[in-house]
Amino acid sequence: MSTAHQRRSGPRRVGSRIRTAVVTAVVGALTAGGLVATAGTASAQSTLADAAEAQGRYFGAAVAAGRLGESDYTATLDREFNSVTAENSMKWESLQPSRGNFDFSTADRIAEHARSQGMDLRGHTLVWHSQLPGWVENLGTNDLRTAMNNHITTVMEHYQGQVGSWDVVNEAFQDGGSGARRDSVFQRRLGNSWIEEAFRTARSVDPNATLCYNDYNTDAWNSAKTQAVYDMVADFVSRGVPIDCVGFQAHFNSGNPVPENYHTTLQNFADLGVEVQITELDIAGSGESQAQQYGGVTQACLAVSACSGITVWGVTDKYSWRSEDTPLLFDGDYNAKPAYHAVLETLGGSGGGGGGGGDDGDAACTVSYEQTQRWGDRFNGRVTVRAGDAAIGSWSTTVTVHPPQEISATWNGDPSWDSSGDVMTMRSDSGGLPAGGQTSFGFTVMANGNWAAPTLGSCTAS
Ligand code: XIL
Repeated sequence: MSTAHQRRSGPRRVGSRIRTAVVTAVVGALTAGGLVATAGTASAQSTLADAAEAQGRYFGAAVAAGRLGESDYTATLDREFNSVTAENSMKWESLQPSRGNFDFSTADRIAEHARSQGMDLRGHTLVWHSQLPGWVENLGTNDLRTAMNNHITTVMEHYQGQVGSWDVVNEAFQDGGSGARRDSVFQRRLGNSWIEEAFRTARSVDPNATLCYNDYNTDAWNSAKTQAVYDMVADFVSRGVPIDCVGFQAHFNSGNPVPENYHTTLQNFADLGVEVQITELDIAGSGESQAQQYGGVTQACLAVSACSGITVWGVTDKYSWRSEDTPLLFDGDYNAKPAYHAVLETLGGSGGGGGGGGDDGDAACTVSYEQTQRWGDRFNGRVTVRAGDAAIGSWSTTVTVHPPQEISATWNGDPSWDSSGDVMTMRSDSGGLPAGGQTSFGFTVMANGNWAAPTLGSCTAS
């Protein structure tokens, strides 16, 4: 199981609810003959939260307090997600609409709901040029500095122990090719140092919170904005400015598609030593093409161990801030879309969608690995797939090799690879198995000096 590293000792990011699905992974012994067996058995997780948790990740949604009274909304939220972000209620204009007058009532309803469900809470957002009340725009330099630090302090103290990650600063860079800071009241009055001041204040208030810089259009590695944010984070890390995390909003559409090199971007930020989070994911479109893009983003997060989780920017298309783009995982009637199934399956789950377990409720399979041959530069592996007590229509599992290893050939299955090339998903290419039946697939690994056995994911049956 891959685990996102936990940088700070604050509230657990991954929801603590225990659900019914159980995953066991047994790593067998290295025998004298060099046989390594790894077996994974799973009754596959059937919600986003459970499947993500099995991968050491969280799966969250943006929530509007006003919708919590709608039973389908809340049922979907509670079933599928283990992290919550207030879509608007923790923004400056909501929490401190006039100077010194804080109103936490709406945001607290979201926090309370999250707490009652054992969900994590992301804090969004402390300092942002948008949804900023007019009184802040009119302050002079000294007053603005005081107001910024006071806002951060009062809000973080209120949610101390409840919010695991804070978007301390949101969207401080311009779009386009300049790589410049956005022209905001903070930038104009306080100059370049306002961002680090916000982070230093945040750390001093809640040393256990994960502190994030959050932005959009920072997905393609080569874009000027991505590079500018990267340079800032690298500078902060090198100078000891307290930053723990970079949030990627990930609002995609046809003009701004999921980039080919998304995994590279996430990895390069992670290599600076910060956690990465996908914080506001939504992807315009429908059907298989939307599903593929959602699957790709999920895979990119799974491929980067420092990617701790994904939040989608809403529960249902009908309440999305871009509802005409139908960008979310559930349609207006709370039916799970193909995009939902793509995410769930990429996370290693199956079924799902709250459908009450269709006709594959008992479908299950297990996988085990053995090395069958070894040469000077490569080895062959065989994975045996066994059906449980019920017949299965199809199966799939993942085989993760350890760089610089590379899979050079496969047989008896339908393989596909994640963007890193290290994770191969193998699916049945000739139908299913009878109850208790078994089959196997094989592959050759170029060792490139690393003879570690590949890691198997759990087996997913349907
Ligand atoms: C959006 C909300 O979804 C809308 O309801 C609101 O009208 C405007 O803000 N980047 C962010 C989010 O960081 O806070 C924004 O949320 C979407 C873009």
